[in-house]
Amino acid sequence: MEPRAARRSSLRAQLFPPRSGPRPPFAGAAVLVTGASGGIGAATARRLAGAGARLALHGRDRSVLDDLAEETGGIVMVADLTAPGAASQLVADTEERLGPLDIVVSSAGVGWAGDFVTMDPGTVDCLLTLNLSAHVHLARAVLPGMVKRGRGHLVLVGSIAGHVGVRQEAVYSAAKSGLAGLATALRHELAPTGVEVSLVSPAVVATAFFDRRGRPYDRSRPRPIPAERVAAAVEAAVRRGRPRLIVPPWMGLPVAVAAVAPGLYHRLAARWG
Ligand SMILES: NC(=O)c1ccc[n+]([C@@H]2O[C@H](COP(=O)([O-])OP(=O)(O)OC[C@H]3O[C@@H](n4cnc5c(N)ncnc54)[C@H](OP(=O)(O)O)[C@@H]3O)[C@@H](O)[C@H]2O)c1
Repeated sequence: MEPRAARRSSLRAQLFPPRSGPRPPFAGAAVLVTGASGGIGAATARRLAGAGARLALHGRDRSVLDDLAEETGGIVMVADLTAPGAASQLVADTEERLGPLDIVVSSAGVGWAGDFVTMDPGTVDCLLTLNLSAHVHLARAVLPGMVKRGRGHLVLVGSIAGHVGVRQEAVYSAAKSGLAGLATALRHELAPTGVEVSLVSPAVVATAFFDRRGRPYDRSRPRPIPAERVAAAVEAAVRRGRPRLIVPPWMGLPVAVAAVAPGLYHRLAARWG
């Protein structure tokens, strides 16, 4: 091969490497979904159950989880992930009952909206703990086993707020931005191991999220999408080994503008919110 052709072929191989390892199929796979009592987690659990996964359904509301377990055949795992050690205990308890985990969808999270400077310090800590630290500890608990087995997939549910930074949601945005950094760094770090990491970042989804954070969604755009669309993105992220999916995809445009032209993005955001 000519030197130039060889260089081109080697560059192509670096940019588009073969898939790192066997991605877990859903049929029979052991899957933990955190936040399964919520809108996105429940939709994801239903979708993956339909694809044949064996599910562990995590949340705090046992009665909601019991109903979902009946529907999907999953087992129920109750844990408050803001408690110290709860995330690693959840993984240990789940693997004891379900066996080694093939896929983890880390979706538990909570929002908060309001003025940053008057925010109660307890709320700050709670947001950072649940939306960032708990995901980190969950990853630390589940990844060693996956790496040892040379297969597995961790899906972190982020947010558009983590890519663009939403006003009045500073701490939530910071935590979700941290999650995006975690996903990217882990994906690089684990590339040689056969374990994959994906970030699925929804924009606005029609769940109880906004009521629960204490401030309803009151804008006309972007329109809330059904949780099932996020569930489909989670499945696609695993099936296709995608590093990052923004849902709906067109919201990738403001993310790209914010990344390459932050000044322009701020002017546009100031005008349209
Ligand atoms: N909805 C949106 O517009 C939107 C947009 C972007 C990103 N997201 C992200 O998507 C994820 C799921 O949100 P969602 O829309 O499904 O909201 P949701 O319906 O309010 O569900 C939140 C889930 O998190 C769990 N959770 C809350 N506090 C917890 C705690 N201390 N310990 C353990 N679990 C806890 C809830 O469990 P219990 O109900 O049992 O307490 C519930 O299962 C979150 O990470 C959120 O940040 C949502």
